[in-house]
Amino acid sequence: MAEPLKIMLAISEVDGFVKTGGLADIGRSLPLALKKRGHDVRIILPYYSKIIRQKTMIPAVETLGVPMGNKELWCAVKQCFEEKVPVYLVEYDLFFARERCYDDGTYPFVDNAERFGFFSKAVLQACQALNFAPDIIHCNDWHTALLPFYLKEHEKDNPFFKKTATLLTFHNASFQGHFPLTSREFLGIGWEHFSSDRFEDFGQLNFLKGGIAWADKINAVSPGYAEELLTPLGGHGLHEMLQRRQNDVHGILNGCDYQTWNPEIDPYIPVTYSALDLNGKRTCKEELQKAFQLPRRPDIPVIGMVTRLSAQKGFEFAIPALMEILNWELQLIVLGAGEHWIEGALDVLEQQFPEKVGWKNGYDWGLAHWIEAGSDMFLMPSLFEPCGLNQMYSLKYGTLPIVRSVGGLRDTVTHFTEADGTGFVFEEPSPEALIHCVRQSVETYYEQPAAFQKLIQNAMAKQFDWENSADQYEDLYLETMKK
Ligand code: ADP
Ligand code: GLC
Repeated sequence: MAEPLKIMLAISEVDGFVKTGGLADIGRSLPLALKKRGHDVRIILPYYSKIIRQKTMIPAVETLGVPMGNKELWCAVKQCFEEKVPVYLVEYDLFFARERCYDDGTYPFVDNAERFGFFSKAVLQACQALNFAPDIIHCNDWHTALLPFYLKEHEKDNPFFKKTATLLTFHNASFQGHFPLTSREFLGIGWEHFSSDRFEDFGQLNFLKGGIAWADKINAVSPGYAEELLTPLGGHGLHEMLQRRQNDVHGILNGCDYQTWNPEIDPYIPVTYSALDLNGKRTCKEELQKAFQLPRRPDIPVIGMVTRLSAQKGFEFAIPALMEILNWELQLIVLGAGEHWIEGALDVLEQQFPEKVGWKNGYDWGLAHWIEAGSDMFLMPSLFEPCGLNQMYSLKYGTLPIVRSVGGLRDTVTHFTEADGTGFVFEEPSPEALIHCVRQSVETYYEQPAAFQKLIQNAMAKQFDWENSADQYEDLYLETMKK
């Protein structure tokens, strides 16, 4: 192992505290894996009101001044521990004591620029108040993308941060933090930094662009996504800027938390099972059908989905494809929350195919596990997918992923061949390509049961351990510190 490093992970979500998507899974798993490797790793996130109700905290910093524009805002830092990893929470009720993290359920909060600019600045103030001078501040997504700028510009003469380097990880570069210029003064972004190679983006501020300009290194959550980000098609408009920093752009695949996602020990599923004995999986399937009030049919395939209902997840072409696919002998079970037009489309599918479609609108942690266990296939037809966790969970549960060949899905699932493969993969984001791929999976299920079983065994043998990802992060931190 390398010398222990001092790492501050600045992130907007941490599983166990607050979660809207996979970002939170990484917010928890990566620091725990780094801690196991002996590093002094700490986590810092905003103290949202959801957390206020759930956790017991101790004060870490009673009052912390955060200079923003020409004012100083006064906040506090609370602390607790997650398996011995210190977790700090920046408490500033005016910004964070809200039911949701980023929006009111329909619209983004109008002060998101101020909220997350403030949070990024507060991380630097908190490090000083805690007398924790990190070797690395690991920033994640647009929420903390201003931090490298603050470190390099606002704190450039501060000896406390003399050795501190920044890594910015892209979990989802389609969210960039676009904000009107009215926030510029509060954020302390001088006009000299408002150019197209820095913060400027069609007359607005773009936090992620600022992150690219100032972070010492950048990485994406899979090698596939890192490659795509450098292309016009996959770069979400950032490709030219990222190409200029090509040598500093890396890809590290997220790991999978097998303590939480493991059918041998999963407390959320009706019966546990393993690759050696799949009987329990059959029971999970029957119980799942029952829970969704679908006919109990062990003979037909169940396709599961657990997902944010967002265009990112491929619904624009998946909905018309499903209209066709649902004429076949199979069932579809969906758990999701998000955009209303997708909810509406799923309602229509359910009305049209009441014996075949079960769907639950909402966020349900336990049910997510159960769908992974009780389905035969798992559908992720994403338009883009920086990493994707559910396909990794599916592999572990012997639930064959049907995925589009993009980002982390491309890196983790291999298409069915007689001898090999762990799932079913298609290329084009079109209803036709999806229908073709699902047909292949369904035909394999019905007509080649032995091959289907072999795929299940291949899938369950796959391992995407956090130890491996943490090992790569360690190397990247060391490289980042050399910059
Ligand atoms: P993304 O972060 O883009 O939403 P990922 O596949 O990386 O996609 O991670 C999604 C995470 O959120 C997984 O842990 C998944 O189980 C969980 N999840 C998504 N939607 C729901 C839901 N409706 N109910 C419960 N868990 C969900
Ligand atoms: C984002 C991405 C997802 C990734 C997750 C964790 O939410 O959409 O693909 O797995 O972050 O990195």
